[in-house]
Amino acid sequence: MSKLRALETGDVASLARHGNDREIWRNLRDRFPHPYTESDAAVYIALVAGQQPRTSFGICVDGVAIGSISLMPGDDIERKSAEIGYWIGREFWGRGIMTDAIRAATDYAFRTLEMHRVFALPFVRNTASSRALEKAGYVREGVMRRSALKDGELLDQYLYAAYDDRWGTT
Ligand SMILES: CC(C)(COP(=O)(O)OP(=O)(O)OC[C@H]1O[C@@H](n2cnc3c(N)ncnc32)[C@H](O)[C@@H]1OP(=O)(O)O)[C@@H](O)C(=O)NCCC(=O)NCCS
Repeated sequence: MSKLRALETGDVASLARHGNDREIWRNLRDRFPHPYTESDAAVYIALVAGQQPRTSFGICVDGVAIGSISLMPGDDIERKSAEIGYWIGREFWGRGIMTDAIRAATDYAFRTLEMHRVFALPFVRNTASSRALEKAGYVREGVMRRSALKDGELLDQYLYAAYDDRWGTT
């Protein structure tokens, strides 16, 4: 059983151990570094420690942080719409952990952050992420063709979203 909680200084080692994987980096924005070191994990944990309200969480199994999930609210006219991003360590893939984490973080975005929309932009080739979003109740709105340059490759991204007025009904 996995749980979301605030990341703490004590999570540095496990977060770096699980995050230091090229296959994780390959599916995230370049601001997530590779190699992912303890120093990178420490900087991230310090960055999110002061958040008010909290928008980033550790994904924990038996109390150990094995990944993270975060919400990034927009600004100006998009201030009630948040992007969601996430990863967990490879040894935990395929157990439904991220589907649960996406559901929990999206609930939080609607109930606590009072967002109206949460969206995600998985690369089209990232079938596992698309599947986890669909299982969590997200709708595929379209394809953003040629929208990302990752690892020297021009990629298409799917646009998935969940809406506060339909959440829990799909
Ligand atoms: C993508 C990721 C978050 C998925 O997490 P997870 O905990 O394994 O996801 P879940 O187990 O909840 O769901 C994954 C689903 O995809 C399916 N799946 C995985 N690989 C697949 C593939 N190549 N083709 C088809 N389905 C696949 C799984 O079988 C599962 O579906 P099911 O329950 O119907 O069998 C995880 O692999 C990860 O952290 N990847 C690296 C970082 C990343 O991609 N982040 C997302 C960026 S948008």
